[in-house]
Amino acid sequence: MQRIKQWNRILLPYEQAVEELKVKFKAIRNEFRDMNEYSPIEFITGRVKKISSILEKANRRNVPEDRIEDEIEDIAGIRIMCQFVDDIYEVVKLIRRRNGKDLEIVYEKDYIKNNKDSGYRSYHVIIRYPVQTALGEKNILAELQIRTLAMNFWATVEHSLNYKYKKNIPENVRLRLRKAAEAAYQLDEEMYKIRNEIINAQISFEEKSNSVYEISNNIQMLSLFGYKEEARMFQSKFNNLWKNGSLEDLQDLSKEIKYAIQKYQAFE
Ligand code: GTP
Ligand code: MG
Repeated sequence: MQRIKQWNRILLPYEQAVEELKVKFKAIRNEFRDMNEYSPIEFITGRVKKISSILEKANRRNVPEDRIEDEIEDIAGIRIMCQFVDDIYEVVKLIRRRNGKDLEIVYEKDYIKNNKDSGYRSYHVIIRYPVQTALGEKNILAELQIRTLAMNFWATVEHSLNYKYKKNIPENVRLRLRKAAEAAYQLDEEMYKIRNEIINAQISFEEKSNSVYEISNNIQMLSLFGYKEEARMFQSKFNNLWKNGSLEDLQDLSKEIKYAIQKYQAFE
């Protein structure tokens, strides 16, 4: 019991690191979206390894208990999911740009160019990350796994099978998994070929929803400042465009409303 309590305390800064890193990578994604730009980051997950898994891994690798924090690099784990393989390398560049700033890269492993025998593919970056604790700064190790949605799907399924079979996956299942890994690879390749098409569709969807958001906010603003007639007029223009208007029509209307607000100096 005492030991578990002690471990819970050791793991606190790791929890902090996972939360902070998730916030930071989500912020990058939100910034791209806010600028109507394509984000190489699709979504992020993170976890702190369970005490039982930490002790099991230490035992398996003959790591004495006082060396666990230095030798087990994935106590804090962050996964960054991307749509396309080349987004992964964009994310790696973003991380490298932060090297020496809010994190320090210890090493990188490219299991995409060199996939594992199991069929596993992902890009790993091990970092040292400073956490501010009540007792001062603590530098911890964290593992960033960067992968496509297809790579993540495969790894998640394979992981649960490993768990089920306690790492002794029967040969026929293992063979199937290798085939599935090949199929996931093919999916990434095919998606890459229509990447531009997909990205353009997503960006115009994003732009359209940003315009709609801006228009309704600004119409409300006009109405709030007493320009009820103008607000009604813009609202009816918007209602006409909403269903059949193009992105350009919406953007023009948005500009028109902004211009009207400036004219009435409704912001004052
Ligand atoms: P462990 O595999 O955790 O013992 O660490 P390691 O030091 O050998 O590092 P490695 O880079 O091989 O693996 C680190 C992490 O990558 C693992 O904890 C998994 O999350 C993931 N990983 C590596 N290989 C595989 C694999 O074959 N299948 C799945 N599903 N995940 C893997
Ligand atoms: Mg391993």
